[in-house]
Amino acid sequence: MDIAVVVGSLREGSLNRKVARALELLAPAPLKLREIALSGCSLYNQDLDNDPPADWVELRDSIRPADGILFVTPEYNRSVPGVLKNAIDIGSRPYGKSVWTGKPGAIVSATPGGFGAFGANHHLRQSCVFLDIPLLQQPEAYLAGVKDEMFGDDGAVTDEKLKKLLSRFITAYAEWVARFAPGG
Ligand code: FNR
Repeated sequence: MDIAVVVGSLREGSLNRKVARALELLAPAPLKLREIALSGCSLYNQDLDNDPPADWVELRDSIRPADGILFVTPEYNRSVPGVLKNAIDIGSRPYGKSVWTGKPGAIVSATPGGFGAFGANHHLRQSCVFLDIPLLQQPEAYLAGVKDEMFGDDGAVTDEKLKKLLSRFITAYAEWVARFAPGG
């Protein structure tokens, strides 16, 4: 099962990208996680809907074939980072041709701070309702106090508590995606 991973940070040393990579290593065999590049995305502008820039077409084409969507995001000012919201908006248009519709999704939010980026996680849930992305409900993944030292050079998570939480999360997500597969 091909899972498009959308990371809400462009930062080179992004903790959220580290979490995404760790999830990729922990994912049960049927899941293949593939990060979608957001770095080249121009800003969404409805005027361009009839003649979209190449980077929008590329983004939509990279999401369309996926069997599921996994969001891994930081919180900016208690909400979703602009880069992620921009990608969501690009993927949602033209009207009636959203690439997100019906794909089983899940959200992980990670921060070095104390509240697990709960605000971003739940604002993103609000968009997912409208986008018709059926979201994994449990376990929720609000990762607080995340730091570089929790990951090894190979990208695997070394912190035992975080590893247990991420394993439980990605196993539940694999089961969630399987429910939406033909015959699931
Ligand atoms: C932050 N950060 C932050 N953290 C948090 O827990 N809640 C918040 O509302 C914010 N707001 C915020 C706004 C802006 C503009 C920046 C740049 C940062 C801190 C943030 O969690 C931290 O920089 C993370 O390391 C960002 O995630 P990545 O890039 O490491 O994945």
